[in-house]
Amino acid sequence: MSDPIVIAVDGPGGAGKGELTRRLAQAFDFDLLDSGAIYRVLAYAVRKAGLALFDEDSVVQEAKLLNLSFECLDDGVHVLLGGEDVSSEIRTEEAGANASKVAAYPSVRTALLQRQREFLKEPGLVADGRDMGTVVFPKAQVKIFLDASADVRAKRRVLQLKQKGKQADFDTIKKEIEERDNRDRNRPVAPLKPADDALILDSSDLSIEEVFQAAVDFITKKTGLKLN
Ligand code: DC
Repeated sequence: MSDPIVIAVDGPGGAGKGELTRRLAQAFDFDLLDSGAIYRVLAYAVRKAGLALFDEDSVVQEAKLLNLSFECLDDGVHVLLGGEDVSSEIRTEEAGANASKVAAYPSVRTALLQRQREFLKEPGLVADGRDMGTVVFPKAQVKIFLDASADVRAKRRVLQLKQKGKQADFDTIKKEIEERDNRDRNRPVAPLKPADDALILDSSDLSIEEVFQAAVDFITKKTGLKLN
């Protein structure tokens, strides 16, 4: 029997990976791994335990003990820490920045590697992250790097926050996005970068439909899979 298929989708925050990977998982009836949520929950757990994000030893201990689960509900995938739903707590700008900080520790990435690989089951997995195609699933049959300019990503984020009735200042959000990009791109282990064999898709001037279609065309050509 052939190996389960991995569709690895990497790229910076706000490029549209979340929406694309949800649609792909649904279209091909694959499981979905939101690896960013793991780093977000870890940072949340560290803070909740009263530990410091800059203390690598404490962070790695929390990573080893992390009691994390995902639950599929009607309104999407919920993230549980020790059985408690922390989905909204981990989706803030601050939680994203904290996740990027704990994700920079090589020991933490090693501690979480196997846990991510365990998501792979028949018939396949759509994996969303920064290092899915380079480190976690280097043999993924499909690798996509979804990019967009910082300006476009900041505009999308401001719109999302305003739709949720939250305050959002474009310049502040753009600065936070650039800081997070810099940290994720320049860390020594598993930096954010396209795999050599990735399709690079720039979503700056594309609708989600166009991104989805380009991804599906690439996936069907590479794997012979058909849409459900
Ligand atoms: O995709 P996200 O915004 O939820 O990710 C939050 C942070 O987690 C991101 O800035 C860097 C880190 N991350 C990572 O280092 N590796 C991954 N595979 C996924 C996320």
